[in-house]
Amino acid sequence: MKLTFQLNGRPMETECEPQETLAEILRERLNLTGTKVSCEVQVCGACTVLVDGLPVSSCTTLAYEVRDKNVLTVEGLARPDGTLHPIQQAFIDEFAFQCGFCTPGMILAAKALLEENPKPTEAEIIHFMDGNICRCTGYVPIVRAIQKAAGTMAKKQG
Ligand code: FES
Ligand code: FES
Repeated sequence: MKLTFQLNGRPMETECEPQETLAEILRERLNLTGTKVSCEVQVCGACTVLVDGLPVSSCTTLAYEVRDKNVLTVEGLARPDGTLHPIQQAFIDEFAFQCGFCTPGMILAAKALLEENPKPTEAEIIHFMDGNICRCTGYVPIVRAIQKAAGTMAKKQG
């Protein structure tokens, strides 16, 4: 079936089978491999993308469910001139990844958090990011990166 939606701010039209997931469409039909797939059962958060601003597990979202919606993947975060989004930059500055497999999902979940709550406490960050698992970092640098990004984004807006 034909599928039309907004992908990273641009209109997208592709084909999908009724049983195909959003993760499969992104990675296999559209070559956007920044979205990672690990558990495939909505447990790890590696496949997180934003749909109309909210984090969803693309491994268990059927592609047709995003028809006419706005999908944001990690590929849509940097500016056209290559400047990274403040959350991406903060993850680099704070060494908030090692293998990087969880990182795209972490960054998109963090974006949703900071849009809803621009100045989260440490406890609020930990609670919101509960669905995103990292096997490498021990989470401390991830929390630090999100706090740093919150500060940078607040300064830009202020
Ligand atoms: S791969 Fe989707 S939640 Fe783990
Ligand atoms: S950096 Fe390896 S899983 Fe998080």
